[in-house]
Amino acid sequence: MRTKIVAGNWKMNKTPAEGAALIAAIRKELGEGACPVEVVVCPPFTGLDAATKALAGSTIKLGAQNMSAEAPGAFTGEISVGMLQELGVGYVILGHSERRTLFGETDAMVNRKTKAALAAGLTPIVCVGETLAEREANKTDKVVTTQVRESLAGLGNDLRKVVVAYEPVWAIGTGKTASSAQAQEVHALIRRVLAALSDGQTALSIRIQYGGSMKPENAKELMSQPDIDGGLIGGAALKADSFVAIVRGGC
Ligand code: PGA
Repeated sequence: MRTKIVAGNWKMNKTPAEGAALIAAIRKELGEGACPVEVVVCPPFTGLDAATKALAGSTIKLGAQNMSAEAPGAFTGEISVGMLQELGVGYVILGHSERRTLFGETDAMVNRKTKAALAAGLTPIVCVGETLAEREANKTDKVVTTQVRESLAGLGNDLRKVVVAYEPVWAIGTGKTASSAQAQEVHALIRRVLAALSDGQTALSIRIQYGGSMKPENAKELMSQPDIDGGLIGGAALKADSFVAIVRGGC
């Protein structure tokens, strides 16, 4: 019942021209209509305009990697939700662990951004996940539960529109993937927390992506777990062949 969703998080990679070329290569490799997976690419802000043009006529969707929770005004260096929408952006990654650890984003900030994205009709991809120290101290459940509860507090009926990405911090960019059993366990926990925030039916309808060194070799097994509904892909999203191979793993 849940449509799988695979999103490429390009992080601070690809100029506008390089991004357009990557999109052209992804379109060629993937073909149109062959696979029921929802596919999203998330270039840096500067690449969004070129990406929209490169995606014309495609079913592949466009996402951003961050946004401000504020209305337009005196916020030097920030990007508002309206600016994203005008460029054809329909999704936005929020609370990625790099934003949380390198740029001080808190659950409260992620919650405000999530509300602003939803109010404008964007689909937020809200990231949660424990560090290695937290996992080793058996704190994974507590940390992830708190992040989900606080980042997604007070959304009411809009909760069903959110995509959650479980990204264990120790697996991001390290080549160390969570085993499918480890990932499934946390995904099932997240669904229980979502049910407590809303109701069982709503929780069953929400997509939960896995992220952290997902690659063609492990994508199919991860996405065949009952509560894993797609992937948020970093390094492997920067090349058309590996990104498309991961998407196919969810077909
Ligand atoms: P990775 O990154 O696939 O390079 O581990 C995933 C992410 O940070 O979203």
